[in-house]
Amino acid sequence: MERFANQAAQAVEKILGRRFSANELELPPDPAFGDFGFPCFKLAKEEKKSPAAVAQELAEKIAAHLPPEITSKAVGPYVNFLVKPDVLTSSLLSDILKGENLGTYGSLPPETRGSWVLEYSSPNVAKPLNSYHLRPTALGAALDRIGRFRGFKVVSINHLGDWGKQYGMLAVAFKKYGKTLADELSMRELVDLYVQINADAKEQPEIQQQARDAFLKLEQNDPEMTALWKKCVQISLRDFDRLYARLGVSFDHIWGESFYRAQLAPLTEALRKSGLLVESEGAWVVPLTDEGGRELPPCIVQKSDGATLYATRDLAAAIYRYEHFKFDRMTYIVGGEQKLHFQQIFLVLKKMGLPWADRCEHVPFGLYKFKGAKMSTRKGIFVTLEDVLMVAKERVFELMEKRVQDAAAAAAAATSPAGATAPAPMSIETKDQIAEAVAVGAVVFHDLHTDPVKDVDFDVDRVVDFEGETGPYLQYAHTRCKAILRKATESGTSFSYVTENSSLLTHPAEMALLKTLGRLPLHLERTLSFSKASQLAHYLIEVTKLFGNFYRDCRVLGDDPKLTQARLMLVEATRRILARGLTLLGVPLPERM
Ligand code: ARG
Repeated sequence: MERFANQAAQAVEKILGRRFSANELELPPDPAFGDFGFPCFKLAKEEKKSPAAVAQELAEKIAAHLPPEITSKAVGPYVNFLVKPDVLTSSLLSDILKGENLGTYGSLPPETRGSWVLEYSSPNVAKPLNSYHLRPTALGAALDRIGRFRGFKVVSINHLGDWGKQYGMLAVAFKKYGKTLADELSMRELVDLYVQINADAKEQPEIQQQARDAFLKLEQNDPEMTALWKKCVQISLRDFDRLYARLGVSFDHIWGESFYRAQLAPLTEALRKSGLLVESEGAWVVPLTDEGGRELPPCIVQKSDGATLYATRDLAAAIYRYEHFKFDRMTYIVGGEQKLHFQQIFLVLKKMGLPWADRCEHVPFGLYKFKGAKMSTRKGIFVTLEDVLMVAKERVFELMEKRVQDAAAAAAAATSPAGATAPAPMSIETKDQIAEAVAVGAVVFHDLHTDPVKDVDFDVDRVVDFEGETGPYLQYAHTRCKAILRKATESGTSFSYVTENSSLLTHPAEMALLKTLGRLPLHLERTLSFSKASQLAHYLIEVTKLFGNFYRDCRVLGDDPKLTQARLMLVEATRRILARGLTLLGVPLPERM
């Protein structure tokens, strides 16, 4: 499918006389109208003609540049492209079914495209991961997997917040509350210490100065301070790792802010030499104006007491990463409230004359909002990620329980056709594994399916609803594909992937499903260029709906063995696309539900 999209885009490019990528083609919701569409609104405006008239003209011109498998036709204000159905069915099915298990459909050979530094998750040490951290973690991990799958050389970095005055604060807390290096502390206890000292600092202002002094000592490599700080980092990382493991997330590098500390002095020196640094009330800053010439708050590089700041470390980090990875793109997945910070960082890099400065981008995201009493009353100030997963898992258990009861009741009453059978009993371990996979899948999918820049409305009943547009709905569709294939094998219908039968797939529901399955690579490419996993999430929902229509309208295990073969192939192709898409998003695939 991707090949055809590229061919269509090339034909458009020839006519327009400018770069035109397949990403710019629209994907008509009903593929019966066309596989891709080129909207003519913009051109029409430029040429002061009606979009439909422009579409008419273009359709003919473009046709001359298309290979014989693709036709073009004006449909209202669009030029639509249609791949000849017989070409499409045979080539698509065999492409999707190539290779074992999930095959390679939609992938590009590893490391054949540019290098991409992707920074995500980046929580602060001595604070638990909270629900909000799911956003950069889940989105970053999804882009990371998809990027690699699509041939980019991805370097993932977790930029831990592990440096700054707050670690001086913790050191003061250790002393003040009689804790020592020898004490075994849990994350909870560490957080409590931090909360306590901050509360005390309100009453006793001298604590602030003590913390500043302590941090300065840490910056000067004081051994006692360094040991305390290391301990705090270790306790936190252990806690983060537990959650990262549940989410299936890992990084190439966990390079916190502290990692770049040797680069800070040379950086300030370079800035000073270049004349960019200006003294302001004892501190050193880079004055900034944006592209429109508007004044921005200056970027503070060094405080009056000589201490460095968050921004200093980001500047050093960017330069270090470029020197090491010569990236073609660097993406920071960080909350929208840091928009100004990144604007400042990128501007300073530009002022430093670094030609790669405009390869850096900040992908912002929104907040978490909790609905329903269940969540908002827990733990007060914030809801930890662990809490969110726990609440989701409890709800999944309830729903699983209910399913079992409903199925047993139906079997007992034998009201359903074909004599429903009671589901096989599950061991506690299996049940727990499934509930974990469903809960993680539900929470992750819900987050990713929300446009990153919007806030996430979290209502646990909606998030885990097996029937809504949710992770569990997709996971269930996947298990259903597997069940159909299993049933076919059990009933002696052996099937092999013989694609000559694919020409039998002519029913509109079959065509719509197959064509949509073929769009996976196009959606992956769009997911990467817009940095929105919601693109892929919505696509998978569409696949699931079309699969539902197909299953409703076409009998898979019918009397005609050839048609049965073809339909089983379509079920297997659906299974692969769903499994691939969900895995790339970080949604686990339970065996059964
Ligand atoms: N640790 C920061 C926070 O929790 C986010 C770090 C974002 N990344 C960066 N390079 N500044 O707010």
